[in-house]
Parts: sequence; C-alpha cells; structure tokens
Amino acid sequence: MTVVKINRLAVPAGQAAELEKRFAARKHSVDGAPGFEGFELLRPVAGEERYFVLTRWADEESFRAWADQREARDPSTTVSRAEGMLEFEVVDLE
Ligand code: HEM
Repeated sequence: MTVVKINRLAVPAGQAAELEKRFAARKHSVDGAPGFEGFELLRPVAGEERYFVLTRWADEESFRAWADQREARDPSTTVSRAEGMLEFEVVDLE
C-alpha cells in the first residue's frame, strides 16, 4: 500500500529561494531508494507558512529503510528547520 510522508520545513524570511535551490540541486538524490515513488516540494501560498516535502513510497518498509540509513543533516548548515512529519496511507478506492 502506498504511503505518503510529509516533512514540514520552517524557512526564515528571505531564505525561500535558497531552500528551493538546494532542493533543485538534490532532486534526484533519492531516486535510487527501493520503493521510492517520487516527491514534491510544496511552496506555501495560504493557510500555512512552512514548506512541505511530500514523498510517496511503495510501502512503509521502503520508507523506514531509507529513513534509517539517511545521513543526518547538520542543522548549522541548513536554512530550514524540520517541524515534524505527517504520515498517511493512500486509500485504495477500488
Ligand atoms: C525525498 C526527497 C527529499 C529531498 C530531495 C530532500 C532534500 C533535503 C534538502 C536539500 C534539505 C536541506 C534544506 C536546507 O538547507 O534548509 C533537507 C532537509 C531536511 N530533510 Fe529532506 N529531503 C527529502 C525528503 C525528506 C523526508 C521524507 C524527510 C523525513 C524523514 C526529510 C527530512 C529532512 C530533515 C530532518 C531536514 C533538516 C531540516 C533541519 O535543518 O532541521 N527529508 N532535505
């Protein structure tokens, strides 16, 4: 069952362009992860001030495997601050 994980990133005023540039530079970095189905970087327009990183995975195990081996980021090098993850299952409507 496909799962969706949404990481919320708070970005200080004036840093949005830099955040988008960093994601552009790394947009293929997760392509090879087993079960990875894609991601989108969502820029807030209304009702939310944080950027959302929306990712889709073939199943929970695929996401966990990637997350467990992911290199921890040094917060002193990021412009954003992670503010928690939202987790969903995609409902099969058939
Ligand atoms: C799959 C596509 C993804 C890509 C290409 C990606 C790329 C990036 C990049 C470029 C940054 C640095 C942002 C900055 O400099 O401010 C970042 C930060 C971060 N990402 Fe991702 N990311 C992805 C998915 C995820 C997911 C699913 C998670 C959740 C487990 C995650 C967790 C984080 C965390 C914790 C940070 C650090 C933010 C902080 O400073 O606290 N990322 N990511």
